Amino acid sequence: MLKKFQRWKKEEQIGERPLSDRKKELLNYEIPNHIAIIMDGNGRWAQKRSLPRIMGHHEGMKVVRRITKVANELGVKALTLYAFSTENWKRPKMEVDFLMKLPEEFLGTFLPELIEENVQVRIMGNKDELPSHTLRAVEKAMNETKNNTGLILNFALNYGSRYEMVEGIKKIIADYEQNNLKLDDINEDCFSSYLMSKELPDPDLLIRTSGELRLSNFMLWQLAYTEFWFTDTLWPDFGEEDFVEAIEDFQNRGRRFGGI
Ligand code: IPE
Ligand code: IPE
Ligand code: MG
Repeated sequence: MLKKFQRWKKEEQIGERPLSDRKKELLNYEIPNHIAIIMDGNGRWAQKRSLPRIMGHHEGMKVVRRITKVANELGVKALTLYAFSTENWKRPKMEVDFLMKLPEEFLGTFLPELIEENVQVRIMGNKDELPSHTLRAVEKAMNETKNNTGLILNFALNYGSRYEMVEGIKKIIADYEQNNLKLDDINEDCFSSYLMSKELPDPDLLIRTSGELRLSNFMLWQLAYTEFWFTDTLWPDFGEEDFVEAIEDFQNRGRRFGGI
């Protein structure tokens, strides 16, 4: 228990310690099993540079690659990335179309590397509404990485937590009506097993970039006891150093889960 309490003095953190040392040091403490990230601020990043918003999304894609690599190196088991919410369809068609092409571009470029690094690609979200070209690209990646045993890279694509829960409840009722489930079987673990994240543990750490302090319909059930970490940095500017800092802060938290 002691190791998680006051990992070091804050002053040391401010000192110029090389990132490689900080990364090594992380391994002496608890590495979060599951990290979830709300990758926000792509549009503002582009607007600040007088570029079209989609350029921010394109830049953000490169950050996904970098952070996946570091997470895998550090031995994180699962990384869930909020890529497109059920509410993001409200955006202009041109932006939505661009976002729906990004998985193909990302996987077209990086899938060989992900395979080599033993990463398993997954998606969580309403697949029915995705354009067929988007679904094809992610299904190919899932298929080609399904026997890998390293980091689970889970994209929340057309994901909304309320949708997920309502769908879960409908499936519970269907199973109940078909006598596959008894009323007494329904408990918290059972409910979790009806969610799209059923194969993953709840996130230990949630990161949101761009200074917004809200969940925007992301994993409302699963984040019940997750540690939150917010930064003003916009997603395309988010680097390895920010990721390491988030984990350092996580290692300094005293998680109590309601106990003392
Ligand atoms: C996050 O960046 C990416 C998606 C929601 C797809 P935004 O596009 O939300 O960027 P801002 O918040 O407008 O700056
Ligand atoms: C949340 O960001 C969704 C993703 C990062 C994919 P938004 O930019 O859509 O969230 P709001 O609208 O600011 O709450
Ligand atoms: Mg946003």
